[in-house]
Amino acid sequence: MGITYYNQERVLKLDTRSASYLIGIVDEENFVGHIYFGKKIDDFDLQYLLRIKEAPFVPSKNNGDRLSFYDSFPWEFPTHGIGDFREACMAVETNLGHSAVKLGYVSHKIYKGKPKLKGLPATFGSEEECTTLELLCIDDALEFEVTLIYTVFEDIDAVVRSALIKNAGDKVCYLTKALSLCLDMDDKAFDMISLHGSWGRERHIQRQAVGYGKKVISSLRGEPGHQDHPFFALAGKNSTQDTGEVYGFHFVYSGNFMAGVEKNQFDNIRAIMGINPCDFKWKMEKDSYFQTPEAVLVYSCDGIGGMTRQFHDLYRKHLIRSIYKDKKRPVLMNNWEATYFEFDTDKLLSIAKEAAKAGMEMLVMDDGWFGNRNSDDCALGDWTVNEKKIKGGLKYLADEVNKLGLKFGIWFEPEMISPDSDLYRRHPEWAIAITGRTAGLARNQYVLDITRKEVRDYVYEQISSILKSADIEYVKWDMNRPLCDMGSGALPADRQGEMYHRYVLGLYELQERLINDFPYLLLENCSGGGARFDPGMLYYSPQIWCSDDTDAIERLVIQEGTAMVYPLSVMGAHVSDCPNHSAGRITPFETRGYVAMAGTFGYELDITKISEEEKQMIPEQIALYHKYHDLIRTGDYYRIASYSENHAFDCWQIVSKDKGESLITYVQVLNRANCRSRQICLKGLSPDKKYKLSTSEKVYFGSTLMYAGILINNPWGDFKGGLIHITESIS
Ligand code: GLA
Repeated sequence: MGITYYNQERVLKLDTRSASYLIGIVDEENFVGHIYFGKKIDDFDLQYLLRIKEAPFVPSKNNGDRLSFYDSFPWEFPTHGIGDFREACMAVETNLGHSAVKLGYVSHKIYKGKPKLKGLPATFGSEEECTTLELLCIDDALEFEVTLIYTVFEDIDAVVRSALIKNAGDKVCYLTKALSLCLDMDDKAFDMISLHGSWGRERHIQRQAVGYGKKVISSLRGEPGHQDHPFFALAGKNSTQDTGEVYGFHFVYSGNFMAGVEKNQFDNIRAIMGINPCDFKWKMEKDSYFQTPEAVLVYSCDGIGGMTRQFHDLYRKHLIRSIYKDKKRPVLMNNWEATYFEFDTDKLLSIAKEAAKAGMEMLVMDDGWFGNRNSDDCALGDWTVNEKKIKGGLKYLADEVNKLGLKFGIWFEPEMISPDSDLYRRHPEWAIAITGRTAGLARNQYVLDITRKEVRDYVYEQISSILKSADIEYVKWDMNRPLCDMGSGALPADRQGEMYHRYVLGLYELQERLINDFPYLLLENCSGGGARFDPGMLYYSPQIWCSDDTDAIERLVIQEGTAMVYPLSVMGAHVSDCPNHSAGRITPFETRGYVAMAGTFGYELDITKISEEEKQMIPEQIALYHKYHDLIRTGDYYRIASYSENHAFDCWQIVSKDKGESLITYVQVLNRANCRSRQICLKGLSPDKKYKLSTSEKVYFGSTLMYAGILINNPWGDFKGGLIHITESIS
């Protein structure tokens, strides 16, 4: 395992537990080519796969013809403008107005461990856990150095990549495109799987065949957005949850992105991923660097589920940093859907009292506690407590909540400014806008220009003084609109193209400061629900609010898509009131609990108003959460049935790493007349172990449960669900 250089063959071989990734250096020009990524192999002398003697006819071929070679060669980091006409990873604008880049290998180093990426979130690992390759390439004419950085994690079939770009010459030059990843290979009749949606409908799964041309997913919203997600997978046509080859691509970044796949004239596939080059132009002065964000590449020969479990393990072990990463999260009560803006100290305490009685562990005060904020049309930026509502002040409220035995948490939307706010009246220039043009409002608010240090410092001071003023142990960091009208009064004209990325760097700096200064804090990121649910944010917060849609049935689809790449421990999920505020649907209280338990688990309803019968169920649900959540947080995730595919029945299973315990959750969405029980085959158990089911007195071998399956009685009615707990039986 690890990384080896074969000097004579000029091949670099990166090995993980069950995958290999091979890079070849070819020709007198020292081009860096991609030889292979897939199931582990033992040989390294595979340069023949680069087909360097096989330049195709396009439409000519003679001795001096290099273009057909460039346009068909599998590049590790293709560059723009030299005759490879596919989507490139890098392009520039020189002082003479040229855009081409041509890279050749110079040297490399291999070392144990992994470097931090300056100012950016990234996976991490110790010297025992990972090995890094740095491949230095140079463009002599441009005088640019590009270091391709690869890290392999030895216990996970993942390769993470980024590029560090340096202007080593004297002339100022602009970077107009700097992607993070390219993977060139022959088409294996791939399907592309990607995640799409809208507000309240995030990360719905789409699977479609890859054909000629390009399929691109992207964002220009300044955040990944509700609409597209910076993930896709290439899955062999016949691959299923459990079988076949799947390549997963995920971007550790929280801003504009572009990712996708292109099939060319020779049936080669090119997958790319990186910062969206649209509205990106980065000034490179002499000796300046640009670090691209990290992209994660995962390989599975065990179907989509195999890919999912690699991502889960990678993120749980090598991306999330919080002290809560390996801990059960406090069961919280959030007041948003309970009260919206209509609350005061008394109301919150009456909710807290009932929440405490029912066994909850934290009260979170959502939007509306500051400035004149009684609706969503004012006060963002005025982070002072509204003592008309929070009578007695914040410390009093937090103390009273603590006296009830609950922790206390609070909501902020630090990146925003309302036109109707004291902050805007003092600093209109702090709102992002183009001089001479009225910026567009969204949710009645503008975005603060956090590319400016003085703005970041101001916002940070506001948040930290609130956090120091009372016993606050949780923060929900929200962000409720996309970015547009990009203009910063603090940047010169030739750096305005840096603004989107500088914004994201500013955000990362703010969150880094926050978690360093308040290390005990449980931070939950949020963006109008799940518009900024990405691996970048996970580096700062161990959980992210999944969606504003809390309807248990809609959540089945959202959480299935989210769990395809993210561990359940990070998905913010609450039990809310019915009829549901987003979908108007009425679902059984139990089912709402089962679905929320596949996430961080909490409540978001007015507990003082729900029926006595529902109130009685809360302690039982919380007991289930305590019983199962270690397993849910740490176990392997298997998808048994998908409601989004079959429109009737959803089922997922968690298996402990030692295969001694498992939990199955199912929801029957629609019942049918004259319907028999359902047979499901379990997954991930040990065939030779004996197991006892919570629904039966008998003991069965894992092989029986997995291959012959079990029956689930057809529940009477719609939206009914259940749990089946399985434990290893020693007898
Ligand atoms: C966003 C969040 C909600 C809530 C509101 C408050 O929509 O996703 O959970 O916090 O803002 O305004």
